[in-house]
Amino acid sequence: MVINSTSPMVVVANRLPFTVQKNPVTGQMERKHCAGGLVTAVAPVVVETEGLWVGWSGQHQEDGVVEIPEANPNDQSPTAGLKSWQVKPMMSQKTLFDNYYNGCCNATFWPLFHSMPDRAIFQQDKWEAYREVNEQFAKLTVEAVQSLSKSNPETIPLVWLHDYHLMMAANSIRDRCDKLGLPIKMAFFLHIPFPSWDIMRLFPWDDELLQGILGCDSVGFHVEDYCLNFIDCCQRRLGCRVDREQMLVEHNGRTVSVHPLPISIPYDRFVSLAEKAPQVVKNNEQEQLLLGVDRLDYTKGLVHRIRAFETLLQKHPEHIEHVTFLQVAVPSRTDVKEYQELKEDLDQLIGRINGRFSTPNWSPIRYIYGCVSQEQLAAFYRDSSVAVVTPLRDGMNLVAKEFVACQVSEPGVLMLSPFAGAGSSMHEALLVNPYETDEFAEVMHRALTMPKDERELRMKQLRHREREHDVNFWLQSFLKSVDCLADNNLTPGRLLPL
Ligand code: ADP
Ligand code: G6P
Repeated sequence: MVINSTSPMVVVANRLPFTVQKNPVTGQMERKHCAGGLVTAVAPVVVETEGLWVGWSGQHQEDGVVEIPEANPNDQSPTAGLKSWQVKPMMSQKTLFDNYYNGCCNATFWPLFHSMPDRAIFQQDKWEAYREVNEQFAKLTVEAVQSLSKSNPETIPLVWLHDYHLMMAANSIRDRCDKLGLPIKMAFFLHIPFPSWDIMRLFPWDDELLQGILGCDSVGFHVEDYCLNFIDCCQRRLGCRVDREQMLVEHNGRTVSVHPLPISIPYDRFVSLAEKAPQVVKNNEQEQLLLGVDRLDYTKGLVHRIRAFETLLQKHPEHIEHVTFLQVAVPSRTDVKEYQELKEDLDQLIGRINGRFSTPNWSPIRYIYGCVSQEQLAAFYRDSSVAVVTPLRDGMNLVAKEFVACQVSEPGVLMLSPFAGAGSSMHEALLVNPYETDEFAEVMHRALTMPKDERELRMKQLRHREREHDVNFWLQSFLKSVDCLADNNLTPGRLLPL
């Protein structure tokens, strides 16, 4: 029996690939889609391998039993092929889930893993809620595996755990499956950065957390630096034997393989959206747009970016009335205090700058606080002169890649922070340190005035790389990395002693 791309895949993620909501007119429960690279890439494999998706439906135990509706016959989304039996909704008690999701995932791991420890809270009760909800996820996952194994006893399911919400589920899944005599393989992929040992050791239960992740057979991160940070933590905190070259960690007599797997986007989909998208309305033909698209999150460096734009207007007043900053910010984690404060700070800052520089026919900043459709997003990407993708820290950043895919007419310029995972491969972008405000403003000026031949050359190379390494390439690389596990070529003998 081997693991390969035809083994049924059990995806376990905090969120289901859609939420379930009541249609206010018909009263029927319906699927509401969440667009995202992960869903686009992974849902078809779950469909193809007749696998399962375990995740939170947006409801709690107090809401009663939630029946997953079948897809609407007109559904064109990547999840349309998922039958209701393939979707396993995780339901917790509301307070417990809130302590896990807002209290621990969003208020501890999110800031800590983005190397912002001053924003992180460390509370035992939140950590306990995290472990408990991970246990609930584990239980449900094992039930899912059991149901698959009954109908298909010849294959070994591949359980794929996603992101920082589920770092403590693997060992419980393994133990429960062992007791039931169910063979499985397990992989974990982290969608955010993995921090250095100096940061990780601030977490009071770091040893438990590392052991939790090591419950998997294979662990994936976006870039090599995050892999090496993880390996370093395992060696220094747990005393594991490791092989940095082969990226292997030995723990409890098992060998765990570590893989850099940079996630990407459905490139062709964005190209065709951009080819069809309506024209963006501008003040005049010559107006240049600087564009920011982000969840409203403090890791995205929105305040730093808007301050740099203010400096640009101050130092290069020739841009007044000719350049507009268009910031689209989607509301996110609005129950968390840090996010509420950020919204207030940004509202004030934008109001002040607009008040300072606006003229009767022009305002420097257009600010949309909300989600825009994929068609509208593609139009913004295509018709902007400069994309300003300047997070303070970001696992990968898909916006940079989506912008590049949508450059189907006049080539624009990508400004990119070196602190995003994307910064380590998108070399033709203009790299800018978001903390250095004056330099940031100068790079904005350079981007706005870059000659066409230079823009063309940079964009051509960026587009070529992203086309070759799209989200499907990412998925295939992941499946290959898991196939290797079946070759049984990971032996402790390859590991270097401490
Ligand atoms: P993160 O996962 O931290 O939010 P990414 O840049 O990797 O950051 O992914 C963000 C995704 O959300 C992208 O696919 C982007 O198109 C989408 N997105 C961000 N802001 C908006 C918005 N205002 N409206 C619609 N989609 C958005
Ligand atoms: C990041 C995380 C995802 C998460 C998303 C939206 O991309 O890596 O796991 O789903 O943000 O955040 P939310 O808290 O709304 O799920």
